[in-house]
Amino acid sequence: MSNNAIRRRTRRYAPWSFAALLAFATASWAESEFDMDLMQTVDDTSKELVSNLSLEDAASADGNLADLDALLAQVETHYSAKGGADDAVKITQDARALLVQIHEHIGAGDFETANLKQSEFSRNCKACHKLYKKS
Ligand code: HEC
Repeated sequence: MSNNAIRRRTRRYAPWSFAALLAFATASWAESEFDMDLMQTVDDTSKELVSNLSLEDAASADGNLADLDALLAQVETHYSAKGGADDAVKITQDARALLVQIHEHIGAGDFETANLKQSEFSRNCKACHKLYKKS
């Protein structure tokens, strides 16, 4: 948020509510492992993938795969940089490898196997959450 935007907001809302909002935002950022929206975007894109696979919409599913790969690349970079989180790095790499496999099965027109690989992919999410998600 630019300083101008902050000033505009401060003018519009009572000062006390702005301070409360800022305190809240700071607290939740401090607790969060990632940028605010990263996991939520992963979740939304993942759901779109499931739906596009069931519709056998190859082009849209491939778009979801590319987005998921870019998002998980950020997760992988995050845990590599953090250190001491080898299993999180490994889980993310496995998840990204599954995305490649799903892409290949879609390319071959084999949506059944693509769906099976998607289920495996979802289990990777849970594997990491079990180890690293606090709440
Ligand atoms: C390598 C670890 C890792 C992987 C892989 C992972 N997550 Fe997460 N996820 C986390 C952590 C850690 C949190 C806790 C949020 C935080 O600390 O910012 C989280 C939080 C979430 C949340 C809650 C977000 C919120 O706004 O509270 C959702 C939804 C989610 N993940 C979905 C997914 C889905 C779907 C996948 C797989 C496609 C996935 N995650 C893969 C680590 C991971």
